[in-house]
Amino acid sequence: MTTEPNADPGGNATDFGFRKVGAGEKQRLVNGVFDKVADRYDLMNDLMSAGMHRLWKRALVDWLAPPRLGARPFRVLDVAGGTGDIAFRIARRSPAAVVTVCDINAAMLDVGRERAEARGLSDRVSFREGNAEALPLPDGGFDAVTIAFGIRNVPDIPKALREAFRVLRPGGRLLVLEFSHVDVAGLDWAYDAFSFQVIPRLGALIVGDDEPYQYLVESIRKFPPPDRFAAMIREAGFGRGEHRMFSGGIAAIHSGWRL
Ligand SMILES: C[S@@+](CC[C@H](N)C(=O)[O-])C[C@H]1O[C@@H](n2cnc3c(N)ncnc32)[C@H](O)[C@@H]1O
Repeated sequence: MTTEPNADPGGNATDFGFRKVGAGEKQRLVNGVFDKVADRYDLMNDLMSAGMHRLWKRALVDWLAPPRLGARPFRVLDVAGGTGDIAFRIARRSPAAVVTVCDINAAMLDVGRERAEARGLSDRVSFREGNAEALPLPDGGFDAVTIAFGIRNVPDIPKALREAFRVLRPGGRLLVLEFSHVDVAGLDWAYDAFSFQVIPRLGALIVGDDEPYQYLVESIRKFPPPDRFAAMIREAGFGRGEHRMFSGGIAAIHSGWRL
């Protein structure tokens, strides 16, 4: 994958890894990445994180603390929910939870539907194609919105955060799990070496292409540091912002409320 900037990315230039591209171009490239990896996406997550993504996802569900019992369903929207990992965890934790997975990529959603069927969760986890920047969902319809490793891929992040705010009911909560920035001396160079030397090669081996995983490691470096991302969440309207760092800063979970 080239790291040269595009000659003319246009007025609404954004990052696609280390390249500057137009917003529409970014979405097209991101869709291409997930078309390529959909079938092996979950296996690759386990291999390249040595299973750590499971701990971070569990931490997100712990923090969300969905009610185990309820007089009415606890309605969750998992934006950029891909193959359904977060949705399944929430549905298993809380019999009251009903989860909608919304993702722009049909191939990822197809894998998710098969997994939901295999887990016997199709009655409480549904899959909907849609763009995080213009969710095909009504105002105020959800008790919680989750986004795991998805927001980094969206061309217009502030717009997606405003959409999450719109679809939450007053009193509802947003939780965003995303890669962040390593803040432990010594871990940073080891993490960089592993990211740039090992992960793309693993992608070539397992998916047959290193480009999606070169994009992954580059896009993580371009994602805003936690304080700046926390400010973006506040600017979208959320209150009581907090974040927690995991694994020396490799990942972070941000929380905000629609007050
Ligand atoms: C790294 S995967 C995360 C999947 C899942 N949340 C997880 O944690 O395993 C990123 C997902 O973001 C989706 N995505 C990218 N741009 C999007 C957009 N504009 N709107 C909705 N989903 C998007 C991709 O299709 C992909 O499924």
